[in-house]
Amino acid sequence: MAMRLATVRTTTDEQVAAQSASPWWRTAVVYQVYLRSFADSNGDGIGDLAGLRSRLPYLSWLGVDAVWINPHYPSGGADGGYDICDYRAVDPEYGDVSDLEALVADARDLGLRVVLDVVPNHTSDRHPWFQAALADPDCPEAARYHFAPPSEEPPNNWQSLFGGPAWSRTPDGRWYLHLFAPEQPDLNWRDPAVAADFERTLRFWLDRGVSGFRVDVAYGLFKDPGLRDNPGAYSPTLFGHGPEQAMTWNQPEVHDVWRRWRSICDEYPETMLVGEVCLADPQEVALYSRPDEMHQSFCFRLLKSPWSTASFADGVRSALDAFGRVGAPVSWVLGNHDKDRQVTRFGGGAVGTARARAAALLVLSLPGSAYLYAGDELGLPQADVPDEAKRDPIFFRSGGARSGRDGCRVPMPWNTEPGVGFSPAGTAQPWLPIPGDWDRYAVSRQTRDGGSVLTLYRRALALREAHPALGSGDATVSTRGDVLTVRCTGADGSVIRCVVNMGSGTALVRSRGTVLLASSTTVRRSPASVALPPDTAVWLADS
Ligand code: NOJ
Ligand code: CA
Repeated sequence: MAMRLATVRTTTDEQVAAQSASPWWRTAVVYQVYLRSFADSNGDGIGDLAGLRSRLPYLSWLGVDAVWINPHYPSGGADGGYDICDYRAVDPEYGDVSDLEALVADARDLGLRVVLDVVPNHTSDRHPWFQAALADPDCPEAARYHFAPPSEEPPNNWQSLFGGPAWSRTPDGRWYLHLFAPEQPDLNWRDPAVAADFERTLRFWLDRGVSGFRVDVAYGLFKDPGLRDNPGAYSPTLFGHGPEQAMTWNQPEVHDVWRRWRSICDEYPETMLVGEVCLADPQEVALYSRPDEMHQSFCFRLLKSPWSTASFADGVRSALDAFGRVGAPVSWVLGNHDKDRQVTRFGGGAVGTARARAAALLVLSLPGSAYLYAGDELGLPQADVPDEAKRDPIFFRSGGARSGRDGCRVPMPWNTEPGVGFSPAGTAQPWLPIPGDWDRYAVSRQTRDGGSVLTLYRRALALREAHPALGSGDATVSTRGDVLTVRCTGADGSVIRCVVNMGSGTALVRSRGTVLLASSTTVRRSPASVALPPDTAVWLADS
């Protein structure tokens, strides 16, 4: 893993400048593994740690720097593992703590780092604290959640992000708060026992050699102390939460938690925190990555941007500006386990695939870290999961009005044999059905195909590693009509342009430089220009 120099964009504050040194995470490509769907070692149809461990050589071959694993903890199973019963253990479905340690050791041998998911906003309703609180309203554990006395109406108008009210009743008639599913009661972070327990959890895993944490719902944790009504409703079409949801999210106290967690990480060399901060205003998101808080916070703008130069340019510019002000790298995200797959979002079929390929070149050129969601490197589309096979609480709590997230969580196709190599041959059905034609996306097939999405990603990652202008340069964004250009300048003065044609006609780009990589074989070079058909991108090294 080469260390790359990052450009200090704002140098007025000494702390900001200090943060802009170049530890690994500033430019890392982090591969997100949905553990349940990655590789099943023992034939129960569920991905597990041993399966992931056996596939580490693939990730090393692909050229990523780190692996972030979705929750591996014992869970009530109500929300894909984000309802945790025991924060310092491994769900037996996935293995045990020694499997996690072996994974970390093997990863280290391959030059890869392991980042875990931690979920501090809520526990499972099966967590021993919540069980104790149900049994005895006066026990100390009850103070670690938000309970309200029995009454006709819930205490306020807060809504669950998964649909319906954010308050449910206990069997004895009390109300309790859950901003997600009822099986995910929100913790009361004003109780010091909560903070103390999470500090133990962080150390437990850091002592086992992990390189940090992706922090779930990092903009949550604290709620308005008076539990006042929210002024408005949240709409999933927004970029994130804003003033309309001011009582449930983004309370000022939460920043002290990240300061404390940062100081714990600082005791462990080369570890990092990346926060899930779903706020609409990028400047607010970046505040979570001030020099003494989390090292990074995801930039979700491009995850919700339609295929247009205006949206993408705004997404890139606003993030570079916001994170530049605090001296943190941008953590670019084009796909994850909560959103429809890019190929489908961008139009599906050949068009969606061409756009996803072009978008990959765009994101991998940008300065900062890039988070790749397992399967995106194969160009997987959103799978059509039959309603009877669905698991996502969003589908059930919306009465089927929202299709849910199962379609981006379907197991990985590894080879072209029956079952596509997810489980050992002839064993159980996978936990979510794999579409019958997914052998066409199999890793084994794409590795042999010089034109595959997988080959494109692998080439892009190798070039990103080799060129200081890619991933760690200083970037400026410009648009001309339907053409978006990111001009990346490396610390050595080298310049690489990523040019994306988002329109419907061919775009001619003047250049005598070298085409380092094109998203499609239809891109044509002539002596003084490059012709980009619709939905293609190119990396041009200007001499
Ligand atoms: C964000 C996670 O990415 C999502 O999958 C989960 O449902 C919610 N947080 C609640 O933990
Ligand atoms: Ca298994």
